Amino acid sequence: MSEQVTRTFAIIKPDAVRAGNAGNIIQRINDHGFKIVAMKLIHMSRPVAEGFYAVHRERPFFGELVEFMTSGPSVVLGLEKANAQPAWRDLMGPTDATKAPKGTIRGDFGTSMGENATHGSDSPENALIELSYFFNATEFVA
Ligand code: CMP
Repeated sequence: MSEQVTRTFAIIKPDAVRAGNAGNIIQRINDHGFKIVAMKLIHMSRPVAEGFYAVHRERPFFGELVEFMTSGPSVVLGLEKANAQPAWRDLMGPTDATKAPKGTIRGDFGTSMGENATHGSDSPENALIELSYFFNATEFVA
């Protein structure tokens, strides 16, 4: 795999912010060599959460997902690193926090499939789409 520096999109979800774990998760992001190129604290509205997760609209968990993502503030981030998208997915661990190994972010800070502490884009193509959903060009540092 090439070592091209790329960007991915991340969310520190409402469960992790509520539990006071945003700082710990940002520390891990730094410790693992990601450069934070964009970051803000937001409280997602229902339309914003529904639009972001539109691909899951027909899934049985969609209502629960939107309810959760609008339940409190979250931190949205742009992360840069060699192969950032898979690297961030590796650091997070599997989606279901109950199956995520200790030492991964979801294993340490998530509690369930839904309340899994963080989000990461599932492909480099989606990373660019998701970054532009939450950030304007002027919100990225050089
Ligand atoms: P995320 O990486 O944010 O992408 C979609 C989210 O949907 C996922 O993390 C989970 O939090 C959530 N999700 C996926 N499957 C389920 C499920 N079976 N029940 C509840 N939430 C789910």
